Parts: sequence; structure tokens; C-alpha cells
Amino acid sequence: MNSELKKAVDEVTAGYTVDNKTLIDGADLFVQMMKEGLALSKPQRLTMPMIPTFVTAVPLGKEKGLYLAGDLGGTNFRVCSVQLNGDHTFNLEQQKTKIPQDLMTGAQGLPLFRYLAEKIGLFIKEHHQNYCTEENDNRLKLGLTFSFPVDQTALHQGSLIRWTKGFDLPDVVGRDVVGLLQIQLDELTVPVDVVALANDTVGTLLLRAYSNDESKTKANTVVGCIFGTGTNGAYYESRENIKKINVESKGMAINTEWGSFDNGLKVLPNTKYDQIVDAETANPGYHLFEKRISGMFLGELLRVTLKDLADRELLFCDLKKERGGSLPHRLVSPWQLDSQVLLYLEIDDSTNLKMSQLILENELRLKTTPEERIAIQEITRAISKRAALLSSIPISAIVKHVKHLYKHDDNDFEIGCDGLVVEFFPGFKERIYEGIKIINPLLDLKKKIVLTIAKDGLGVGAALCASVA
Ligand code: BGC
Repeated sequence: MNSELKKAVDEVTAGYTVDNKTLIDGADLFVQMMKEGLALSKPQRLTMPMIPTFVTAVPLGKEKGLYLAGDLGGTNFRVCSVQLNGDHTFNLEQQKTKIPQDLMTGAQGLPLFRYLAEKIGLFIKEHHQNYCTEENDNRLKLGLTFSFPVDQTALHQGSLIRWTKGFDLPDVVGRDVVGLLQIQLDELTVPVDVVALANDTVGTLLLRAYSNDESKTKANTVVGCIFGTGTNGAYYESRENIKKINVESKGMAINTEWGSFDNGLKVLPNTKYDQIVDAETANPGYHLFEKRISGMFLGELLRVTLKDLADRELLFCDLKKERGGSLPHRLVSPWQLDSQVLLYLEIDDSTNLKMSQLILENELRLKTTPEERIAIQEITRAISKRAALLSSIPISAIVKHVKHLYKHDDNDFEIGCDGLVVEFFPGFKERIYEGIKIINPLLDLKKKIVLTIAKDGLGVGAALCASVA
């Protein structure tokens, strides 16, 4: 690498470095923000929402029956039916469709809910035809996984606080999303009642708790979390700590909405690239933790970093000359670099990073020299390493906050995780463990924190919610 480029890459990667103090202070601040959020009834920009979910018990694995689940959380809508067998196992049928881009943003939210209702109707016709005959007036219960911040007022009721992850339908904000879906189902005479509303993290928590046979794993499931398009976590909180509502049961699952951890940027790193990406989003100033961590933003962080180096004439100079002064559209336009590309760039160990060369040409129409690819790989690794280390903050903080509730046994603390980033990014989980070791939330307790991948949490978790409704 020429010395000027090397110097710039070193500066950029240093900017993406997270030191131990950030992690340790971050976990302390997280615990403080949990407590503030549990006391504050209306979430504010600088606090974490800490939303009561009205899910008052964690499943034991004995639940039974047939339930439906709908899952809206990123770019897809998934409908599933789940047969809970009552022995920690389940059978699942599912169908997934990509949400048309024009339904994700715009003045009207109604077409989106119409689309969801139509997909549920089609699924029932295909998989549960017996519910569609005139003789059968039984209705199916559906749990809706809706993975956006919702101010939940009952298990089956909640109004949208704001959209995240690229959705922007302003007329839905403040409205009850269950009601909006039920109206469309009724209009289409689909025999389904939406009986529960759950965030994807709550679904993940419930699924792991249902599947976890403690006598075998020697672990209690304490957190359900997502590191995918967005990031967030849920855990079970005891009644006396939930100051903002009156809880009648012993406790309740709380949806932290940790994407909004440290919107005040007291501890989080804040490079100029973070600021550019934030300014490009529909919710600037919000979800600043998520914007450093999750799949939707990692690709964009890499893109704006590379564009900056190109603008400073440190990268892609030959290519620019060849193209008469311009750079490929996909490098200069926001949101064109899919985070999955980072995954390939990160693991490439081929000679001259040939695999990266192909990926960059295919995905971004970007021709690169071997030297440029080394620079791109170093930056990619710095961005994803930062994301993984920062991800250890909420996990450590929640375990620190709840560990006293699990004094009665020697079980480990299990964290059920789902999402593309944690599942497929090389070394992501290991780096979270590295961060947990630095924060050391268990001090000298002889227990461990174990991250378990919880697949299909969304469907099964929502079905479990429907089963208690
Ligand atoms: C949403 C959360 C969700 C998370 C993971 C975030 O953008 O605000 O509600 O749980 O993404 O899907």
C-alpha cells in the first residue's frame, strides 16, 4: 500500500477502534439507562424506551396447540403456523414474501396492512384449508411479531412509536398496529384473530425459553436478542423494578429497544462516517447504537468511508480517470452496499483478494487494484470488529442487572440470539465474548454467559404469545 493510503487507512481504522473503557463505561451507562427507562412512562430521545410487553411468564416447554404467527420486521413478511407439541418441540410451516419497496414508505400505511392481511389469507387457504369452509366457523389465533418500537398497552394492543430500518409511513405512527391489521383481515373475511403483539426479541426470548431443557443445558434463558437488519434485546424484569406501570404478576418481559442506547453519545464512538450515515436516515438522532451495529448500517458505513477516501483521491484514482472523472453510481449513492458484501470481504484470504475483486465488481461495479482491496478489507474488519465489541455492552449490562434473580441455582446465563449478523458474520460471536470478558459482569461468580443461536424465534415466539392470550 502506498504510504499516503496506508496513513489514511490507519487513521480510519483507529477511528473505528473501541477501547476497554468504552465497553466498561458503556455497560454502566446501559444499566443506568435501563433503570431510567423503566421509570419513565413516555420515552424521550435520550432514554431507552424499556417497553413493558405484557408477557408475564416465560414458557416452560409444555405449551400445546396450533397457532399462527405473522412477522414484519425487515424487508420480508413471514406467515407461519406452529404446532406446539408440549415437549420443548414444535412443527412449523412458513411462507416468506419480500415486501414491495413502495409499501415501505409513503403517505399511506393502509396498503401495507392490506398486503399483510392478503398474505395471511393466502397462507391459510394453502395450509389450513379446513378453516376456510362454510361449515367450520373456528378461527385461528395469530401472534404478530412487529419489530419496531411500539408503546404496548396490552398483550394485543400497541401504538407505533416510530419506524426504523428504512420504513417510513408517517400516518401509522401513534396508531394501534393490531387494530390496523385486524380491520384488513375482517374486510377480507380471513378467519383469524390477532391476539398478541410481540417484538422479535420477545419472540426470541420465548422460543429459547420454550426449547431450552434446563436439565440438559444447565442454563437459564435470560435475554432474547437480534443482531440482524436492526438490533435489540428483551429480558424478564421483576415487578418492583418496572416503575412506570402497575404489574400484577411477579414480573414481565421488557423490550429494551436498545437500538436507542446512548442517543446522547456519552460513551459511543462517533466518527465522521457515523454522522454521515445518521444524517441519511429517516430518524436522525435516534437508534444511534443500532446505527453502529446492525446489518442495515454496516454496509453503508463502509460505503461512506470508501467514498470519502475516493473523494480525497486516495482510492480508485485510476478507475475515476478511466471513467472520465466519475465513480460508479453504487459507490456514490446511499444504501447501495449490502452488508452481506462485508461478510465476503472480511473472510477473503485468496491470493490478491481475488474473491473481493469479484464481489466488488459484481455488487458495486467497482474495479479495484490489489492494494485497494487490502485497504478495503482492513476497513471492513475494523467496522465489523467495532460492531461486535459494542454488542457485548447490552448483553453484559442486562446480565449484571438480573444476575441476583438467578441466585438459587448454579445454571449459566443463556442469551438467545437471532439475525444474520450474529449468525453469519465470521468471528462476531467470539468478539462479543471478548467484550464480555473485558466488562466482566459476573465478577467472581462461577457461572458463564452463553450465546445460543435461536432460529425461527419470530414465528414460534409469537405463537407462544398467542397461546397465552
Ligand atoms: C427495532 C426493534 C427490533 C430490532 C430488531 C429495531 O430497529 O426498533 O423493535 O427488535 O430492530 O429487528
